[in-house]
Amino acid sequence: MKLSEKKATLSFSDGSNPVEFPVYQGTVGPDVIDIRKLYGQTGMFTYDPGFLSTASCESAITYIDGDKGQLLYRGYPIEQLAVNCDFMETSYLLLNGELPNEKQKADFNHQVTYHTMVNEQMQFFLRGFRRDAHPMAIMTGLVGAMAAFYHDSTDITNPEHRHISAIRLLAKMPTLVAMTYKYSQGQPFIYPQNDLSYTGNFLRMMFATPCEDYKVNDVVERALDRIFILHADHEQNASTSTVRLCGSSGTNPFAAIAAGVACLWGPAHGGANEACLNMLEQIQANGGIAKVGEFMEQVKDKESGVRLMGFGHRVYKNYDPRAKLMQETCKEVLTALGLENDPLFKLAMELERIALEDPYFVERKLYPNVDFYSGIVQRAIGIPTSLFTAIFALARTVGWVAQWNEMISDPAYKIGRPRQLFTGEIARDVVEISKR
Ligand code: ACO
Repeated sequence: MKLSEKKATLSFSDGSNPVEFPVYQGTVGPDVIDIRKLYGQTGMFTYDPGFLSTASCESAITYIDGDKGQLLYRGYPIEQLAVNCDFMETSYLLLNGELPNEKQKADFNHQVTYHTMVNEQMQFFLRGFRRDAHPMAIMTGLVGAMAAFYHDSTDITNPEHRHISAIRLLAKMPTLVAMTYKYSQGQPFIYPQNDLSYTGNFLRMMFATPCEDYKVNDVVERALDRIFILHADHEQNASTSTVRLCGSSGTNPFAAIAAGVACLWGPAHGGANEACLNMLEQIQANGGIAKVGEFMEQVKDKESGVRLMGFGHRVYKNYDPRAKLMQETCKEVLTALGLENDPLFKLAMELERIALEDPYFVERKLYPNVDFYSGIVQRAIGIPTSLFTAIFALARTVGWVAQWNEMISDPAYKIGRPRQLFTGEIARDVVEISKR
């Protein structure tokens, strides 16, 4: 970061001395006021619940301009990556800062492919869960448990260990998600097959059985690969910040990524695509397109507590660029699978049309986010709704790892320790229990 000539001055209405703070500039985006010395100089903290105005770190990985609807991974627009690159190239880019050349790509593919198998003992650990457990409950456990199975790569001060952990996490997530699915179905686990692509391999582990050959459908493979690219990173969102905060204590990467998985589970974050599809199914069950108007009235009524899931975003105050790409993919997949007349897709298009014209949404700058169409694509592919967030976790793992590695590699990093504005009881004496 670059020191700006500009400085920020904080003055007080009680006549105490003003305090000056340095201002830093990034390569693009808002400048930041460096308030690290604020407490030392004034005895005060800043108050910013939800981090509405706080940059928690310096990062060179992902940039979002929410007003323009722009998303860049290492400077490359998401629209170009989604069309010209596959998920492996995107992962290499996020982890290493540059797109790979052909040899680098082949080497990276090879390394990831040859780490896709998981320790055989992991399946016995998995079998300890109830068959009807939510996949995210299982994934939180499995990812955390990787620290026990791959303890030989948990020295975070060793760059070689960090690299091996990154490859292991990226490579084994599809295997673990597919095993979680197979377990819920009571079907045998399918081992990875090394002549398939990352995404093709995942599809096979999900949908093949030992009883017959499985042929990967090209359109479906491309669509899922695109879902992975679009979800690979999104700068300092809740789960990524969780990974950074958890990792800042010096814990191992598997524990830090497990914390990210747990955070992603929430319906305001990764759980939104599951919530969005459930919402579409419910509207469909209640009368479909004819009832869309009624549903929108409920959404606009604050008392109802109903939100239009898949709409709105903390950062994007314009169309989420990923939503446009997802809508294209959605059409492609439905056509390829002969589902052009899918009622939920029609319903989603109608909800979007109404919302984009309705003053409630226009005034609040609420646009479709990536989750609005991704659920329909996944459902068409045959992925059950309860697995959507696990797929998101699979795709986001590379972003989490890249962000965690960036933090650990910075010699100046510190354990994260937010402060608080205390409003509870002040010191008081414990009264003996019989007298309370
Ligand atoms: N439906 C109806 N109203 C909404 C919606 C929505 N989906 N989203 C926001 N609003 C309204 C709020 O009620 C609020 O109105 P008000 O100003 O009259 O009080 C205003 O828009 C601003 O909303 P906030 O919740 O303050 O915005 P915030 O930036 O905190 O929240 C969030 C963003 C959580 C994503 C929100 O838009 C939401 O809940 N959306 C639905 C869930 C969803 O799709 N999440 C996916 C996020 S993307 C991802 O994680 C990959």
